[in-house]
Formats: sequence, structure tokens, C-alpha cells
Amino acid sequence: MSQIKTVKDASDIVSVIGSRIELQRAGSSLKANCPFHGEKSPSFFVNEVMQRYKCFGCGESGDVINFLEKYDGMTFAEALQTLADQAGIKLEQFVKSDKDQDREKLLEILDLTRQYYVYLLAEHEAGQVGRDYLKQRGTNSESIKLFQLGYSLDKWDGLVNYLHKKKKYSLDLIERAGLIIGKGGRYYDRFRGRLMFPLKNHRGQVVGFSGRVLVKDVKEAKYINSPETELYHKSEMLFGFSELYQDIRKTKEVVVCEGEFDVLSSAQAHVNNVVAVKGSVLTEEHVKLISRAAGKVILALDRDSAGIEATKRAITIAKGSGLELRVANLEGVSGDSSELKDPDDIARSDPKAWREAVKSSVSVYEFLLQVAIKKFDPESPEGKREIIDDLANVFSQIHHSVEKDFYVKKLAAILGVKKELVEDDLKKTILAKKKGVVRRDVAPPPEEYPGYTETKPKKVSTLEKIEKYLLFLLLNLKIQQLKDKALEIVNFTFSVNEINLFLRIVVDSKKVSLKDIMADLPDDIKVNISDIYLNPKYLKHIEDLNVAEEWDTILKRYKKEMVKSEIKKITKELDELAKKNKVSDEDEMKQLELLQKIVELKRK
Ligand code: CTP
Ligand code: MN
Repeated sequence: MSQIKTVKDASDIVSVIGSRIELQRAGSSLKANCPFHGEKSPSFFVNEVMQRYKCFGCGESGDVINFLEKYDGMTFAEALQTLADQAGIKLEQFVKSDKDQDREKLLEILDLTRQYYVYLLAEHEAGQVGRDYLKQRGTNSESIKLFQLGYSLDKWDGLVNYLHKKKKYSLDLIERAGLIIGKGGRYYDRFRGRLMFPLKNHRGQVVGFSGRVLVKDVKEAKYINSPETELYHKSEMLFGFSELYQDIRKTKEVVVCEGEFDVLSSAQAHVNNVVAVKGSVLTEEHVKLISRAAGKVILALDRDSAGIEATKRAITIAKGSGLELRVANLEGVSGDSSELKDPDDIARSDPKAWREAVKSSVSVYEFLLQVAIKKFDPESPEGKREIIDDLANVFSQIHHSVEKDFYVKKLAAILGVKKELVEDDLKKTILAKKKGVVRRDVAPPPEEYPGYTETKPKKVSTLEKIEKYLLFLLLNLKIQQLKDKALEIVNFTFSVNEINLFLRIVVDSKKVSLKDIMADLPDDIKVNISDIYLNPKYLKHIEDLNVAEEWDTILKRYKKEMVKSEIKKITKELDELAKKNKVSDEDEMKQLELLQKIVELKRK
């Protein structure tokens, strides 16, 4: 047996996926909101017998290894190793692809660099500036440890020397890790004299760094970050996500800030379910990642115009994901609100106020409504128009009509006009905006189960439909009955060839459970059979069905339909013959044969 099969047989897809996302029982399968696309009702199914998953919304499907590759971003080798470790199987030497080997090397380099920076901050003399800085900012040792903060030497070749001269990694690889910069054949450290934050992916692997300057009068940027590399992608970076994952998962809420220190200080103020998008806006990748752990996002972005724009854009990005968007309520925070303090300032100066701000968050629509009526004058006609302009796009994206009605009414009351008037104006504004600008298209929300449509609108013949349903019923019989019935129909020729192949295997197999039979199936057959087994259209009815009775009924229908389709085929052939100008003796013979066949078929 191949190593891969041994490992797969020893793993259970339900527990692997179940330890990562919440699964609900749905008949013989388990379901969840699909982790690969945004949706509000579950169309993602996992099945123990098939050892496969499939989303009937976006079409994503596969086995346990595919899931780890796709969900955890593992390479094939990593997924196999992870499963082998879990099952206590020792893998024999496995030849990894060059790409996998490079990736492992890069991760190794980045992790070594983390350790190097941590050492410099914690123990080296030169790290004193960093330690002083953190002390002055009120960062405690727990944060330093949890986020593995470090320090980079104020030298051009500190890391070059360590990784290349001492640890013998090639300069090319170190550059590919984003850590050094090559110019005219010479290489120098990207990060120098900075406080270092390791940037980790959701699996906790270091993929990059962010470095903050420590001296006030520098001309360089306050923060510099790793460039885009094979491993580091800015749009996916959620600082704090892997460190604070358990807290996020537990509370099902996540506070989204802009900077590393916001995360550190928030956690120190005991708001531990917090991440930072690093100054940039919330992206679709962020939303996907967050949806895995939480249902609610509490934005704590700057309250300047850029922050408000980012808040508006977040609505569009999160649309269809099922995430509820809220905004931390910083209204009541002591001090002058015009100071535009960030979460780090608030959490440090008044931890209780920060906890309150998060606890008393308001819906994103309420927040933007308040912003608009503060920015423009709700008393003057121009102000009223500006408010409508400002909110049209926001309100048009409220999914629930009842909720939408609530905010429209509220706005109408503030403006002192009839609700219908506001509705009318909102509509007009949207129309005008649509004409004027090309909107960046966000992927349309996929069809939701139930009532999903198959990805390819290929026409499926009645016969094929019946065949598939027949197989579905077969798969739901007790194993002995399943084998008996399979034997009865094994010599039929089904139009779906996988069914023929599958029946042959079932009849020949000595295995005594469907799961074991499935495990031995070649992959292409397995995929097709599994898709039929997991089809939610069939699954919906299975609970209140006597499967054996239904089998008899459908088998009869199948036979009838088979005859019908045969006759149809023959009639077509006869038509073709009749169209010919010259009819040969052979043709006449054929005609007779075909007619006889029809008579026979009709007799059945
Ligand atoms: N940022 C960045 N690169 C920059 C500037 C900012 O990556 N050149 C990111 C950092 O993660 C930073 C966040 O954007 O924390 C917000 O920037 P800013 O508000 O300017 O800084 P603060 O978070 O207030 O930084 P600090 O408190 O350390 O002064
Ligand atoms: Mn700050």
C-alpha cells in the first residue's frame, strides 16, 4: 500500500475539518458555512463514509489532504506529514518537490531570524534601546513574549553576517525571504535599529517582519515591512490573529485595529480578541480568515476621513460573508475627541474605557449615519442633500429590509422629511452614481443552498438523473443489501460510466463496509460517486424514506426509461436510413433488424 493511502486511511476527514470549523449534523453528513467562499447558509458538506468534502455553492471539493492544502495553505508534503504525525505513522523518506524544499528553507530562515531578533532584544547589550522604548510605551513582558518582539542591530550587515556567514544560507534565499536587499552585487539588512514584530500567517509561521524606528529624529518611515514575497502577502496579514486565535474563537468577535501597538495595548487591557490590518483596509482575504473564527467584526480604525472611507469600503468587502460589522464606540472616551486617539492610547491611558468602547460598539450603519449628520448640516437643504449623497451607497448595502427600513426611518426623522422621500432620493442617488462611475466588482454572492444550481448548466438527461438517484439509493442501503442489489444490476450498461465501474468494484470487493470500499476506489470514480452520495437534493428526502421500497420503484422507472431511450435511439437510426436516396440491400436488412428490436423492446 502506498504511504499516501496508509495515511489517508488512518485519518478521519470529519475530525480534521471539525477541529478547524464548526460542523453541524445533516443526515449522514455534516455541514457548515463554506470556508472557501462567503455564505450565510451552509452548503459545505463533509462525509465520513466518502472521506470527502464538497461545497455545493462554490464547487470546491476534495479529500482530507486537499482540505489541508486549501484551508491551511499547506503543501502536499506538509499535509501528509501533519496527518502522519497525528496518526503516529512514520513516513519513509518522501521526495519533496524543489518548490516545497524552497518553501521550507524560507520558513526556516524567517524563524531563525525571529530567534535572532528576540535574542538581541532580550539579552544583547545593543538591545537596550529597544527595552527602554518598550518600557516607556508601557509594553509588558507578557506582550513581548506572546508576540515575540525583537530588535534589529543598527548595522548594515548584522543579519547578513548571521544568516549567511554563520548559518550558511545563500544570499539569494535570504533575499527571497525579504530580509536583505541586494544592490550591485552587495547585500545589506532591510531592517536596522528597529523594534521588530514578527508577522505570522494563520498557522503561526513567521512569514515576514514589521520594524518600528526607535529614535525620534529619523528621516526614514516610522514602520517598514517585508516586501511581498513567496510567503508574505500584505493583503492577508492580520497581525495578532494566530497569537490571539483562541480568544477570537471563544468570543466569536474580533476587534480590528490599524497598528501593532493597538493590538499589544488592547490585549494588555484584557481585550484579547483583537487584530491589526496594519494601516491598510480590510481585504477579502482578511474577511475570509476572520469568518473562520468569528461572526462579528468591531472596527476600531482611525476616525479621520481615511478611516471613515475604510469603514465604508469594509461594508462592500464583507458583503455576502455573513460577518456582522460594528464600530467601537469611542464617543464616550475621556479627553478631547478631536485628538483622534488610537486604541493604543486609549487602552493604555484608560483600559476600562477601552473595554467599554468595545462592549458598547454600534452597528456600522449607525456609526456612518452619525458621522454624516455631524459632517453636514441636517437643517439646511444643501446639508440634507449632502447627507443623502454620503449615505446612499451605505444604506443600499443593508441586506435585511427590516434593518434598512429602521435606518431610513431614522434618517427621515433627523432630516425632518417623510420616509418615502428619503427612499426615493437614495434610489436616485444610487442610479446616478452607477451611471457615473464604474464600480469595482466584488464577486457576487454565490447561490445559496437550498436551491443551488449546479456550476455547469449542462443539460442532464432524464435517464442520467434516474441513474444517479438509483445509485444514491443503493449507497444508502445496509451493506449486505447493497451488495445484493449491486449484483442484480451489475450487468446493466448505465450511461454514467462511473456507475458501471463502481458496481463492478462493489461486487468484487471483499470489504464489509461502504467506507472501506470507498477508500479503495480510484480517485476519479470516487469523486463522481461521492458527488452523487452528497447531493443535497437527494439528501433532503432520505430521512423520511423507506430506501428499499424507493429502490424498487426507481429501478422500475429506470427500466422503463431505458426502454424509452433505446426506442428513441433506434427510431432516430431508422429516420436516418429513410432519408437516404439509394437504399442498399444492407440498409434494408438493417431496417428490418431495427424494427424487430423495437417490437421486442415494446414487449418488455
Ligand atoms: N504602518 C506601516 N507602514 C508605515 C506606516 C504605518 O506599516 N509606513 C502601519 C503600522 O502597522 C502602524 C499602522 O500602520 O502601526 C498605523 O499607522 P500610524 O497610525 O501612523 O501609526 P501608529 O500605529 O500610531 O504607530 P505608533 O503608535 O507606533 O506611533
Ligand atoms: Mn499609535
